[in-house]
Amino acid sequence: MALRTVPRMLPVSIAAITLASLAVGVPAAAADRGRYTPGASGVGDEYFPLEGNGGYDAQHYHLDLAYDPDYDQLDGVVTMTARATQNLSSFNLDLSGMDVERVKVDRKKASFKRRGQELTVTPPKGIRKGRTFKVTITYGGVPQTIVGSPIVFGSPYGFLHTPDGAFVGAEPNGASTWFPSNDHPSDKAKYDYTIKVPKGLLAVANGVLKSKTTQAASFSRRRSATQANVFKWHEDSPMATYLTTLDIGKWEVKTGKSPLGTPNYTAVDPTLIASQPNAVDFFFNTTNEATDLWTKTFGPYPFNTAGAIADDARFNDQPLGFSLETQGKPVYSAVRDTTTIAHEMAHQWFGNSVSPARWKDIWLNESFATWSHLWWNEKQGGAKVADAVRATYNARPFPDPAGRPWWSVVIADPKRDTMFNNRVYNGGAMVLQFLRERIGDEKFFLLLRTWVKKYADKNVTTEQFTALAKQISGQDLTQFFQTWIYSPGKPPLP
Ligand code: ARG
Ligand code: ZN
Repeated sequence: MALRTVPRMLPVSIAAITLASLAVGVPAAAADRGRYTPGASGVGDEYFPLEGNGGYDAQHYHLDLAYDPDYDQLDGVVTMTARATQNLSSFNLDLSGMDVERVKVDRKKASFKRRGQELTVTPPKGIRKGRTFKVTITYGGVPQTIVGSPIVFGSPYGFLHTPDGAFVGAEPNGASTWFPSNDHPSDKAKYDYTIKVPKGLLAVANGVLKSKTTQAASFSRRRSATQANVFKWHEDSPMATYLTTLDIGKWEVKTGKSPLGTPNYTAVDPTLIASQPNAVDFFFNTTNEATDLWTKTFGPYPFNTAGAIADDARFNDQPLGFSLETQGKPVYSAVRDTTTIAHEMAHQWFGNSVSPARWKDIWLNESFATWSHLWWNEKQGGAKVADAVRATYNARPFPDPAGRPWWSVVIADPKRDTMFNNRVYNGGAMVLQFLRERIGDEKFFLLLRTWVKKYADKNVTTEQFTALAKQISGQDLTQFFQTWIYSPGKPPLP
């Protein structure tokens, strides 16, 4: 069954949440310290009103999961450690599909309700502002792939079931289809994964592999116990939910370090190697090269490991054409070109370490990764960035006779269904190149390096970027940004 995303954009019934909160008895002593109210059902993202939740700040997730590819079945226990940012009578997580069996808050049974993607948890006692608490959700089911969503031009995304396992690329809102979370990039957290799969298969996730063991295990849909491989992965840097990945199947793995010393974990599906025998070395070497070029250009690699996960991922037998900058190890649904690998590795700085505060700030990810891959192309002997962006400028008429919205997409507020429009990629890269030409290479690269250093592991808005650009260049760039990122239409070349 396909999940449609459009109905999930409807506002949640406020009544349901209010009723849940009335049922909570707050002890008298606690009441003295203030009122306990339900956390909001969203963080207030204009494009995705129900993504994320209010009233707490997630610090860590432990995903303790078992996946059985024979049944597409995922079962597990997710523990989220969070700090309350208000006195909470109840709070929400985002979870679409899947069955919730039980919920505990600090090891005490909590009641829960589900409505659309909102899982509302009511602990036996209110949680005081500032307190750190653990919520444990035992759940299972068949994660539903998101198909037909206008946001990504109909490309299936989220949790994909492959012939030998699973492939996960969840941007922007697909994490909630496979684990309960505060599903918005503004709430980054650290992760530990314990992943159990039938013996013979490997499970790859974000971060560093801590251990691999083999043990007797039972899977919920199988009658008898079997042997399982258990993988523990640890992501030590704060990570947005959309950058989580879990990739299960048969993998050819190559590990090592880039010449500048960044660890590289590359996993390639043997099916891809069958048609391209050098696929492992190709991904491993290109990832090293891109990692080191960006390290020299932007500053130290922001995470504990780099790498690549290349799968033969299809939907209804159709290849996906999908790549995503999942933290530390981007996922690729087939063998891609070096430009794509350079793009996904540039995202480790732009998007993953420095993450958008709101989805309308998506150009801070895509325009920067695109400018970077054009620079990569130039370094590889291709067109100069200056020429490439002018070719794009000339190739895009306005108004567009084919009716494409290109110049009408506003880069700093592209709207939900066109947030991944080519204007945000190549149009935004064009703006960055024009900015570079205006302020000069020295200031431009200083700006990029300062940006990734100042906001490492944080969330940013477009206004923070324009402010830094003005500060570092010493120029009044107000009109430049007004014309190029805040307005629709085709401006004359600067
Ligand atoms: N951030 C991806 C990139 O590198 C695009 C992802 C679009 N989302 C999706 N579900 N296909 O360009
Ligand atoms: Zn991108």
